[in-house]
Amino acid sequence: MKTTSFLSSLLLTASLTVSAQESATITIHSDQGKQIIPKEIYGQFAEHLGSCIYGGLWVGENSSIPNINGYRKDVFNALKDLHVPALRWPGGCFADEYHWMDGIGPRKDRPKIVNSNWGGVIEDNSFGTNEFLNLCEMLGCEPYISGNVGSGTVEELDKWVEYMTSSGDSPMANLRRKNGRDKPWNVKYLGIGNESWGCGGNMRPEYYSDLFRRYSTYCRNYNGNKLFKIASGASDYDYKWTDVLMNRVGTRMDGLSLHYYTVLGWNGSKGSATNFSKDDFYWTMGKCLEIEKVIKRHCDIMDKYDPNKHVALILDEWGTWWDQESDAKTALYQQNSLRDAFVAALSLNVFHKYTDRLKMANIAQVVNVLQSMILTKGNKMILTPTYYVFEMYKVHQDATFLPLDLNCKTIDVRDGRTVPLVSATASRDKNGVVHISLANVDMDNTQEITINLPGINAKKATGEILTSQKMIDCNTFDNPDKVKLEPFKDSKIKDEVLKVKLPAKSIVTLELQ
Ligand code: AHR
Repeated sequence: MKTTSFLSSLLLTASLTVSAQESATITIHSDQGKQIIPKEIYGQFAEHLGSCIYGGLWVGENSSIPNINGYRKDVFNALKDLHVPALRWPGGCFADEYHWMDGIGPRKDRPKIVNSNWGGVIEDNSFGTNEFLNLCEMLGCEPYISGNVGSGTVEELDKWVEYMTSSGDSPMANLRRKNGRDKPWNVKYLGIGNESWGCGGNMRPEYYSDLFRRYSTYCRNYNGNKLFKIASGASDYDYKWTDVLMNRVGTRMDGLSLHYYTVLGWNGSKGSATNFSKDDFYWTMGKCLEIEKVIKRHCDIMDKYDPNKHVALILDEWGTWWDQESDAKTALYQQNSLRDAFVAALSLNVFHKYTDRLKMANIAQVVNVLQSMILTKGNKMILTPTYYVFEMYKVHQDATFLPLDLNCKTIDVRDGRTVPLVSATASRDKNGVVHISLANVDMDNTQEITINLPGINAKKATGEILTSQKMIDCNTFDNPDKVKLEPFKDSKIKDEVLKVKLPAKSIVTLELQ
């Protein structure tokens, strides 16, 4: 059902502001839940880029900023609350120039290198393998190591795996012991290169396929640690890369990655994170939702070669990419507005539908880079609107996905895309509790939503809402709580029907009781 057609941003604005209260209908099929939403869909990504690691996650033990063995205390606690299930490191592009031996042993002896991917800044290697894997243990999350294929060697990667995971009397296990860690770590996820079509070596898929076969052969499973080997995958609409990899590598890989950014384009300005129009907002929703078409097409190709779905699709980079803030001191530092929260919610709602193939997603990136959860400045920290979506949505981690039908109005937006004005997802957790997340994409109008709940015997719904006066609102170091979660009360259940009044530009998660 279409309510508006796009003629110009002016017409779009006018048509949205004059329309009456919108309405939508949802039916949740609680008897059709089959697929678990793997918690790894809520994975994060930390690269040696800008102030993600230094100043973001790590300040060192001697810092005046409160820390736990060098990890920022405020950031650590915020991430612990978020139940981060998986953390990808050390890149990104940085991974294909990273030589892990630079980052082990006494910190004062570690070499300083130039981070040529990200502004030529000095990397002192004070955050290395031990620091990363210990952080994952403290957070209770799965580490996802991104190995160097572009400028590394097979031997180097093979030894890294041995260092991290072998318990034997072997050279690398003994080196780890010498560095203060007796027990090996559990490392499941291992990426064999990153963006091997670009910053990871500018390879063709045929050549990279053979490299994957070679590198992965020597990445051994030590003493019961079973590696899940992930091939460097396509960017966005590069379906040929997926086709060649599936054809030439097939089930030798456990996962194949994909990168998709909500970005205006790779040349020129990417647009401001906080200074945007209504038209820009709806364009952003269209671009972010296009990920569904992209996931589907990559999945169709994978199905052709692997109908039994042995190979997982791993979306190990996604999120918004805006212009770096003009006063940013570090690379790819961008603000995060309510618009970013919408990108997070709508994307996660899509991911939930494809978890028969999509087994992990890592938003880029966790602190101070691109669509981050957290921003820091000196000893101050703020939680972004995106953080609050991940906070609200953590109830869906490892819950059973409940399919739903959704009828709502749509608008046509720039670049020929159509955007539904409501987005929704539902799941049932291990205790049988149903959670529903809803987003009202309409910037101006409340949505009256009728949700049919056949077979769900609930008396009331409680929940939280994320909204703000303006879509451009964000949290700043002077006003850190402008956009935050509030209790949500505007819902009623009667006879297996839930009625929700969802304010304009709001995101809600409800728990049925
Ligand atoms: O996330 C920032 C960069 O984007 C990563 O380093 C790279 O893999 C991608 O191009």
